[in-house]
Amino acid sequence: MLVILKDNYDAMSREAALIVVDRLRKKPNLVLGLATGSTPLGLYRELIRMHVDEGLDFSKVVTFNLDEYVGLSPRHDQSYQYFMRENLFKHINIPQQNIHLPDGMAQDIDGFCDWYESEISKAGGIDLQVLGIGPNGHIAFNEPGSSLGSRTRIKTLTENTMRTNARFFKDILEVPKYAITMGVGTIMDSRELLLLANGAGKADAIRAAVEGPLTGQCPASIIQLHRKTFVILDREAGCKLSGSYPGTWRSSFLLDR
Ligand code: PGA
Repeated sequence: MLVILKDNYDAMSREAALIVVDRLRKKPNLVLGLATGSTPLGLYRELIRMHVDEGLDFSKVVTFNLDEYVGLSPRHDQSYQYFMRENLFKHINIPQQNIHLPDGMAQDIDGFCDWYESEISKAGGIDLQVLGIGPNGHIAFNEPGSSLGSRTRIKTLTENTMRTNARFFKDILEVPKYAITMGVGTIMDSRELLLLANGAGKADAIRAAVEGPLTGQCPASIIQLHRKTFVILDREAGCKLSGSYPGTWRSSFLLDR
């Protein structure tokens, strides 16, 4: 695991973009796993900027998103389809047929989840998966208590996550109770992971994920078993990491583990 500590959100986002762009230049048909939420917005803005200013080419990229709310149509402004379209896809030259998100309106959810897994396999597996982390240590909608070997499936959101996400809805009663999410095992099959976190609200979850025991109570702690993970943090999100690491705060310092 490589933990990269940056001074602020913009620097965190630029660092993440450098890794994505490096992989994209090496492999134009990169299979890229994407996340929603406030954390990756800066990364997506930087990718859009590089597409517009420098001609960064997404024409061969294939994407798979982590999750989607059950019951929200792609037109709903809180669906993750909508989020991805507005915040990334409509600004870059990715062909529509290369974009994959779980279908929150699927009638046969179990059948859809199996199909999603097989599409990931058919694409050759995910090369680089972008991840956020919940204050409770979830990755995608793999809430505490999730099986660490799980595959894409339907999950019930915890009350904690529903409360956290209620800020995007008019009322907490409107927050969907279920989501389709890649499993922890699906995420772990990605060849590289890029986990981003910013803000003091993520400091406990990051400490648990990076330094705590490996446990389904903090699904993100599974990254300790992954062969190639980057954890990029701003100062606040990294502030509870143990002081026993070498080095002090600089514009960036690397912890190789
Ligand atoms: P956030 O969500 O990026 O909006 O903080 C991350 C998550 O819950 O996984």
